[in-house]
Amino acid sequence: MSFSPRVPRSTSILRRMSPDEVFGLRTMGLTEIYGRGDLVVLGLGVMIGAGIFSIAGRQAATTAGPGVFLSFMIAGITSLLAALCYAELVSSMPVSGSAYTFSYVVFGEVWAWIVGWALILEMELAAAVVARAWSLYAVQTLTEFGVSLPGLITGAGGFDPLSMVILVALTGAMAFNARVGLRVLWVMVAAKLLAIGAVIVVGAVHFDAANLARIPAPVAPSPGGGDALHTTLVGLVIGETHSFGWFGIIAAAPAIAFAYIGFDVVATAAEETKDAPRAVPDGMIRSLALTTLIYLAVAVVMVGMVAYTAISTKAPLADAFDRVGEGFMVHVINVGAVLGLTTVILVLLVGQTRVVFSMARDGLLPHGLSRLSGPHATPLTATLVIGAVAVLLAGFLPVLTLEQLVIIGTMVAFMSVAAGVLRMRRMLPDLPRPFRVPFAPVVPALSMAATLWLMVNLEALTWVYFTLWTAFGLLVYLLYGRRHSLLAPNAPNASNTPHAPHGRGRHRR
Ligand code: ALA
Repeated sequence: MSFSPRVPRSTSILRRMSPDEVFGLRTMGLTEIYGRGDLVVLGLGVMIGAGIFSIAGRQAATTAGPGVFLSFMIAGITSLLAALCYAELVSSMPVSGSAYTFSYVVFGEVWAWIVGWALILEMELAAAVVARAWSLYAVQTLTEFGVSLPGLITGAGGFDPLSMVILVALTGAMAFNARVGLRVLWVMVAAKLLAIGAVIVVGAVHFDAANLARIPAPVAPSPGGGDALHTTLVGLVIGETHSFGWFGIIAAAPAIAFAYIGFDVVATAAEETKDAPRAVPDGMIRSLALTTLIYLAVAVVMVGMVAYTAISTKAPLADAFDRVGEGFMVHVINVGAVLGLTTVILVLLVGQTRVVFSMARDGLLPHGLSRLSGPHATPLTATLVIGAVAVLLAGFLPVLTLEQLVIIGTMVAFMSVAAGVLRMRRMLPDLPRPFRVPFAPVVPALSMAATLWLMVNLEALTWVYFTLWTAFGLLVYLLYGRRHSLLAPNAPNASNTPHAPHGRGRHRR
């Protein structure tokens, strides 16, 4: 069946790739290494990290109070709606570019670029943010085992060499062997789940319903304390900036969305997955559902163990166990966090290389970034460049203050994917969809509304930074991508088009 005509080369910034061409990209050299189980492990590996080890407690203590598990529900439902939309598009177009490539087919090149640029922000910055959090937990773990490091190494002066060390190590691992990486990932994810399991079981023993009994009254910001740029966008518009109360529960949800970031990264593994049209939706949704259950359990246990007013914002989980006299759990949490955050960084970096690889393959970024090398045909140059940028970001910038930028980048992709499902159903109703979003158009429309709600609840400053990032990206596109795109009439590398001719795919349906 022919889905749509091959899109002619054009000068329009709205030129589109066809689904046929996208499916042809699967023949371009990446090897299929992931099975269904691997995708669930990838999902758990990338999602469970700083969000649950650090951000949950911080949000409970400062914004949501004991109702933080409701914030987890709001963010989880939003993520689930988005995941259903991702699942439909990835089942039709199972390639590395994920939301970037879907946008290329549905909305055209410039929108694809904006989404790809947002994904670069999401994954690159998230890797640096989580590396910083890794460094904090590594220092704590070493200190508990009696190893004290000099101030320079612990990042006390703003420069954080430990986060650079983990990023260099993981970049090296990715550059050299994909298969060993996968086995190690299974082991580390299992260890992380054991640590989280211990948190839930031991925490449940100390659960006191009185700590959850009521939602604290809203607290207004101290006079002069809330500057406009750190207020949520919606708070700025409606003049409501309280913490706690129902408003606080809703206001904490976007920050908590950080904890769910990663199921979308699973979609970037599509081109390397066996039976991808079915396996990727399955792996993505299963891992997200499991993660949501785990998060709700941890959040309930945490605010049930100690009063929210006593939760530390620095090491919330470990501190809560210390308070109830379970000192050994501090070691379990710290070691679990070090291992857990390692897998988050690893999968984020891998996902990032796949998006950059796809953009370079389409000519929007320099062609060298799509070159595959080594026995497992991995994008070595892209890996090294991405690793180097993450090392610099984590080592020298205060990235822990920029975690909301990661969230807004992700949300832009969520919006584009949900809108893409709606448009694609009308544009190409006969396109094979091994996975279909149930109750469309209601579910994609709800996904867009929920995502938008989280976005407007991010800080105004995040919107300012994101606007600057997007404007810079558009400049790069106009100066480079637009002219070098494989869909441009006179693209320098047009004769090397990697788009496989129809009918020669290794994995056609
Ligand atoms: N969801 C990942 C984490 O919480 C990014 O660390």
